[in-house]
Amino acid sequence: MQNQDMPYRVMQKGNCTCTFYLKDCVAGLKENIEEKSVDVVVTSPPYNIGIGYKSYNDSLPREKYLAWMEEVGLAVRQALADDGSFFLNLGNKPKDQWIAWDVASALRKHFVLQNVIHWVKSIAISKSDAGNYPNVAGDIAVGHFKPIVSNRFLNDCHEYIFHFTKQGARRLDKLAVGIPYQDKTNIGRWKAAKEDRRDRGNTWFIPYETIKSKSERPHPATFPAKLPEMCIKLHGGAKLVADPFTGIGSTALAASRLEVPFVGFEIDREYLDAAIARL
Ligand SMILES: C[S@@+](CC[C@H](N)C(=O)[O-])C[C@H]1O[C@@H](n2cnc3c(N)ncnc32)[C@H](O)[C@@H]1O
Repeated sequence: MQNQDMPYRVMQKGNCTCTFYLKDCVAGLKENIEEKSVDVVVTSPPYNIGIGYKSYNDSLPREKYLAWMEEVGLAVRQALADDGSFFLNLGNKPKDQWIAWDVASALRKHFVLQNVIHWVKSIAISKSDAGNYPNVAGDIAVGHFKPIVSNRFLNDCHEYIFHFTKQGARRLDKLAVGIPYQDKTNIGRWKAAKEDRRDRGNTWFIPYETIKSKSERPHPATFPAKLPEMCIKLHGGAKLVADPFTGIGSTALAASRLEVPFVGFEIDREYLDAAIARL
């Protein structure tokens, strides 16, 4: 029997340590993490949309689910530094387009919603709308999504990343996830434009990596590691990153790529083993 107060695994990745607990995240955040010690939390909880997780029932009564999400939020708040960032990824299902916003509302009493980022999984851009850009040669349709067969609902090609902070005043490293200017004459023209990089805005196109078989992604609801990587970079200067709902370790992977120590919780041993193997 695993002693849940001890880490399930501690891994050394270069100069940083990744610590994984096989444990409920509310208990873990309270018992295993020093108060105000985490700079960045990037996480994606279950959305309560009936996903077939191995160790978790994703179909709770709505009120119970929201009360639990508030409890998670409070535990995150306790672990988070006063100038920390809590990036909460959430999506909806076609017949219930309020889930993400209901969870965000449940956290409203405890955090300031500093930014709302749209994680765009797939997008189509017509050449005629793109304008006269030399890099756009024709119509574009990129990214992956699960098709929705319906005459009522559109394919769901985006999710939310709610960026919560304690005071709404975290200074961000926007250029760390910035993009080059399309029109280079902007460089030097504006006071802020000292280099060929600008704020990319709050629509982030991050496609899923293409996989050949399910064994490459042994989990039903992951985000690409690039998503937490961008959140950690945007916050800037993180010394400890946490993911209460680790899954197969996408946030751990991102933190280790950026050489920032990581701590994560997950209740399912198989997912945690996959995270460790992935790292
Ligand atoms: C949406 S998934 C996270 C996937 C992760 N972002 C990734 O890319 O691999 C949510 C995870 O939360 C886990 N989970 C559910 N209840 C939990 C709890 N009380 N404490 C910790 N993990 C939990 C589930 O087993 C599932 O793996």
